[in-house]
Amino acid sequence: MADSKQRLAGKVAIVTGAGHGIGRAEALELARQGAKVVVNDLGGDTKGEGADLGVAQRVVQEIAALGASAVANGDSVASFEGARRIVETAIKTFGRLDILINNAGNARPRVIYNLSEEDWDAVIAVHLKGCFNMVRHAAPIFREQRSGVIINTGSESGLGHFGQANYSAAKEGIIGFTRTVARDLGRYGVRVNAIRPRAIDTRLAGGEGGGVEAGARLEQTFGRHVLGTRSMKTPRPAKAEEVAALVAWLCTDAMAAVNGRTFQIGGGEVGLWSEPELIRSSLREEGWTVDALDNEMLRDYLVGDIIDQR
Ligand SMILES: NC(=O)c1ccc[n+]([C@@H]2O[C@H](COP(=O)([O-])OP(=O)(O)OC[C@H]3O[C@@H](n4cnc5c(N)ncnc54)[C@H](O)[C@@H]3O)[C@@H](O)[C@H]2O)c1
Repeated sequence: MADSKQRLAGKVAIVTGAGHGIGRAEALELARQGAKVVVNDLGGDTKGEGADLGVAQRVVQEIAALGASAVANGDSVASFEGARRIVETAIKTFGRLDILINNAGNARPRVIYNLSEEDWDAVIAVHLKGCFNMVRHAAPIFREQRSGVIINTGSESGLGHFGQANYSAAKEGIIGFTRTVARDLGRYGVRVNAIRPRAIDTRLAGGEGGGVEAGARLEQTFGRHVLGTRSMKTPRPAKAEEVAALVAWLCTDAMAAVNGRTFQIGGGEVGLWSEPELIRSSLREEGWTVDALDNEMLRDYLVGDIIDQR
């Protein structure tokens, strides 16, 4: 069912990695809500290799078919200069920038004893450094105009995910980055939030073109390997469109007061994540030594009920 209102009329948005999956859905939704969109995508494969501007251009055509405005950019977010050109594209084409969605992502899963330095660097470069690169170039503009919205894309993989050390580290780094940049920019009226999305109908999740069955298989696999109490089973298939709806809503004035927080979305579930806090502690006036720590009562108190996560 089409939304009746245009909640982002007059705004200019950048969506990185908007050629496929979640980013494409976000670019389309922001355009439906009235925003003009810079559709950035390198156009490579899921490992981040190769380049093709046609991938971003196709989404621009889809947006044009909705009667909205968009422009394609094929730079890599992993390049500091590339990120500068992405931001410049918004200013040169549309004259301003209001919204930055950091979504671009690659994946190179390997269990830690087989993870190469190259695979580590490639994933950190796109997700974590890519977020920094984009925010670094957008921040002076947002600070100057005293407004702006940034949404960074984390993942539940950051909670612990078998064979995804590079991806988990980058994604949890993005959450810490979000908290700090929210404080750096919050006093200028700029808000910076993060999402942990689920969408099975994307290339990265292995479901694009594979339909719901491929996604269900994937959820089963991930379910066994994500730590914590979260189940990967969702009441409905997790679709990119639902992620895009949350992202568009977070960009609206209704969410203007929300800064530095992380949201869950996917499979019919929307939620707010807690911020980590110390769950128990013990104070010792003289400070702690190994002798003092090596005490059965203290161990039982601190970790006695912790579930074995092997
Ligand atoms: N699909 C899920 O369930 C899921 C879950 C958690 C997090 N995420 C995150 O959501 C985001 C989108 O993932 P998706 O599932 O839609 O994957 P996807 O592969 O369909 O889309 C990612 C896009 O990013 C682009 N990209 C890759 N490297 C780039 C670079 N250096 N510069 C510019 N663009 C680049 C790709 O070309 C691709 O179009 C990623 O950050 C991913 O980690 C996805």
